[in-house]
Amino acid sequence: MTTPRPETLAKLTPVLTKRWLSPDAWRIGTYEQLDGYAALRKALKAHPDDLIQLIKDSGLRGRGGAGFPTGLKWGFIPQGDGKPHYLVVNADEGEPGTCKDLPLMTHDPHALVEGVIIASYAIRASRAYIYIRGEAVHAARRLRNAVQEAYDKGYLGRNILRSGYDLELVVHSGAGAYICGEETALLDSLEGFRGQPRLRPPFPATHGLYASPTVVNNVGTIASVPPIVLGGADWWKSMGTEKSSGPMIYSLSGRVANPGQYECSMGVTLRELLELAGGMRPGHNLRFWTPGGSSTPLLAAEHLDVPLDFEGVAAAGSILGTTATQIFSDQDCPVYATYRWLEFYHHESCGKCTPCREGNYWMVRVYRRILAGQGTHEDLETLLDTCDNILGRSFCGLGDGATSSVTSSLQYFKQDYLDYIEGRTAPKLSDKQLVGAH
Ligand SMILES: Cc1cc2nc3c(=O)[nH]c(=O)nc-3n(C[C@H](O)[C@H](O)[C@H](O)COP(=O)(O)O)c2cc1C
Ligand code: SF4
Repeated sequence: MTTPRPETLAKLTPVLTKRWLSPDAWRIGTYEQLDGYAALRKALKAHPDDLIQLIKDSGLRGRGGAGFPTGLKWGFIPQGDGKPHYLVVNADEGEPGTCKDLPLMTHDPHALVEGVIIASYAIRASRAYIYIRGEAVHAARRLRNAVQEAYDKGYLGRNILRSGYDLELVVHSGAGAYICGEETALLDSLEGFRGQPRLRPPFPATHGLYASPTVVNNVGTIASVPPIVLGGADWWKSMGTEKSSGPMIYSLSGRVANPGQYECSMGVTLRELLELAGGMRPGHNLRFWTPGGSSTPLLAAEHLDVPLDFEGVAAAGSILGTTATQIFSDQDCPVYATYRWLEFYHHESCGKCTPCREGNYWMVRVYRRILAGQGTHEDLETLLDTCDNILGRSFCGLGDGATSSVTSSLQYFKQDYLDYIEGRTAPKLSDKQLVGAH
């Protein structure tokens, strides 16, 4: 294991993670001792429009994957329309490899609750929802407890801190479907329907929850709001890069010595993150990795110095996504990894549109064939052709994301596929697992 050099350690910028190691960090007493709810007091004295402007000035971009500018999104909510407005926090966190929102809600739930109150006040919402993944029982329990503590202390409910502002906050557990992380499917699910994406336009900003103006934001986005209110836009922009401001929680998993959450200014490189994480595990050499979850195209060892911000990763041909950095070594097979991800997408496809429903079904079968040593050279063309028919033709991002690892693994690791097809690599799947592969 390598020890990080002081200059690399200085890359750590704990803002959202700064309380995580404090004893009982999830309790309101600890939170209040460590700046908690100071931002809310400040925000309630400001005009809501000024708060929206502050978030715009900070350059905060959504932490849910797409990196949409948060202040701009809030500014889309029509004002004076006489309709109820809603804030919905997307705490579904289903993307494989992604694990930043659940630890945040487990260790520091009040950071999210405080962010919800400020954001709701800014967009003039009097009701907010946190939609949390059904399996995340522990995080949901912590969150519900924090919400109750906030009600008891007068931070939620009627006439918050005697400001005249009212807000009800509901924590809603989903049933654990990846598609319910897609914001319009989430809204359908929250309304009690089967979670499937909605046609857009109209967008949630005008026709969201119960056909009313709604902001949907990720947990990390909303938890970033209190520090911005306290520290100011310039302080936030002093971290990160010109178009990707602030700190980001990078989740390192896989073949690293110390997997976990590393909060750094945006633009840090994988080389630096690996140093912070103690390097690769003994006996392993980096071979491929995802910069932001399994929906983002794979990168290879040659991309160690790519700046991990929205622009840097895009320039390298991938997507920053959820900064779920999954690390694979020379002992891992990119064909098998891609197959496993495809099984996931196939299973989670909601079935609404044909390219994703059928395309993933068939690609899984082609992979099984290849991995059982029964693939052909033509199968590689079939895979690329199928991806071509899914990408950009699917109804939502799940279909697009499913193609990422297929096309990128074929781009960087075609030889691994050929080795299965031409018999140089022993089959990974048995004939028994081949059911339906032909
Ligand atoms: C299949 C799919 C799953 C998604 N899952 C999540 C999720 O679990 N959490 C999340 O915040 N965003 C998820 N998103 C992105 C959301 O649709 C939406 O862009 C995001 O919640 C907006 O928040 P932000 O602007 O704060 O990033 C998903 C998108 C797709 C297409
Ligand atoms: S892309 Fe997949 S998940 Fe999205 S609507 Fe189509 S079938 Fe459903």
